[in-house]
Amino acid sequence: MDQNKVVIFDTTLRDGEQSPGATMTHDEKLEIAGMLDDMGVDIIEAGFPIASEGDFKAVAAIARTMQNSVVCGLARANIGDIDRCWQAVKHARAPRIHTFIGTSPLHRAIPNLTQDEMADRIHETVTHARNLCDNVQWSPMDATRTEWDYLCRTIEIAILAGATTINVPDTVGYTAPVESADLIKRLIETVPGAQDVVFATHCHNDLGMATANALAAVAGGARQIECTINGLGERAGNTALEEVVMALKVRPDIMPWTTGIDTTKIMAISRKVATVSGFAVQFNKAITGKNAFAHESGIHQDGMLKNAETFEIMRPEDVGLTETNIVMGKHSGRAALRSKLNNLGFELGDNQLRDVFVRFKELADRKKEIFDDDLVALMGVGTDPENDRLKITSLRVVCGTHGPQQADLVMQIDGVEQKTTQTGDGPVDATFNAVKALFPHNARLQLYQVNAVTEGTDAQATVSVRLEEDGRIVTGQSADTDTVVASAKAYVHALNRLLVRRDKSAPGEDKREINYKDVS
Ligand code: KIV
Ligand code: ZN
Repeated sequence: MDQNKVVIFDTTLRDGEQSPGATMTHDEKLEIAGMLDDMGVDIIEAGFPIASEGDFKAVAAIARTMQNSVVCGLARANIGDIDRCWQAVKHARAPRIHTFIGTSPLHRAIPNLTQDEMADRIHETVTHARNLCDNVQWSPMDATRTEWDYLCRTIEIAILAGATTINVPDTVGYTAPVESADLIKRLIETVPGAQDVVFATHCHNDLGMATANALAAVAGGARQIECTINGLGERAGNTALEEVVMALKVRPDIMPWTTGIDTTKIMAISRKVATVSGFAVQFNKAITGKNAFAHESGIHQDGMLKNAETFEIMRPEDVGLTETNIVMGKHSGRAALRSKLNNLGFELGDNQLRDVFVRFKELADRKKEIFDDDLVALMGVGTDPENDRLKITSLRVVCGTHGPQQADLVMQIDGVEQKTTQTGDGPVDATFNAVKALFPHNARLQLYQVNAVTEGTDAQATVSVRLEEDGRIVTGQSADTDTVVASAKAYVHALNRLLVRRDKSAPGEDKREINYKDVS
């Protein structure tokens, strides 16, 4: 292996998707996997095949279609998980099985295994995985809180059993850069056989150090970074792919390692993941945030006009950022819209284009200047006209300084038009009460989030709504120049997704019911 190359292992579709509410559909997963493959990601962790039939099918479909990337599936340390994982990945051009077990005292207590019993389990499961597949990754979950001697012992067993990559997860985001570098360095120096395998780093961002810890681990000798687009992931998320890749690109003087990533594809995939997961990118996020390349203050603008390098350490085009000019208006046609969306990273089929074009025309009637960000927001509007069981026909809201506010809502439910008038504490509350009155349900609102897409009072609002019912979590999104309309549409989008999930899984069959941290 080229010692200057760092392998990029993307786990957006597994660790990222595990983030509550970030669930993606089969087609969305395939589309994202295609973009990862295309941008040069070395290994795609496509999912956790035992978790649900849906996960299995998505991993299998990704395995069959990737052109370049290795396709990996996750499996707990048991034979059933590993067999199921192999069934899903085995058709890949280059398959990998990733199996893991929690080795720290706290994690050992969950399956109630002694150190010796766990050591036997590791030997048995890694051997089994290796008998199925040449490429096996093993992870001691919560490695950074595992006793040093026991960590070395388990890694040695996994290597002897045939693991080809050893991943060292900082599962709870507990480590710090100096420690991260030192841990990998000492493991490679100490564990017999460690020189013959690849060491990987897998960091969570609970203390905001995931990127720094991953890069420090590389300095210590790791040659695989596990990461997600936009840092998506449970709690504070994972190491962000775009951050480690750009850090290596911008600072080769102190970090002389390269990746095979085409960085000009970063913005497109970042937008895509934000849209389908419903997790918007924070404005000041490194590399992909809306403000990452914005220079607003007078001093900055003056410097930038004289020499862009005054305040810019990388060029916007290096990450695929095209200028946000006024792009389209009410006279723009379908071909122009398709081409503009392609530039923004959205490949559209004919039906999708037809639906987006209708929404684009509606927006162009209300908003004179349509910016790139408006188009990205339109792509996040969640409707499926052919399959949606709930559709909003009209909404009228009466507001005033003295409440309560009132919403008059007309909705089609399974093709039958129904009306109601409800009040609430504010226009959004009144609207949500009206939706509930027409379509009674017990789903709990977990998140309601509004963002302005562009500046100005005619800006579109993007709204995300997250609902939970019997352990199923769904998100809905919409965008509109009217915040209340966007809210109503996002709520109905989430309900439509919930109805699909209800049809596909009885409570208890849903993947969130399977705790991937259990061993048995
Ligand atoms: O964070 C973690 O420990 C994981 C393992 C499954 C590798 O995601
Ligand atoms: Zn993780």
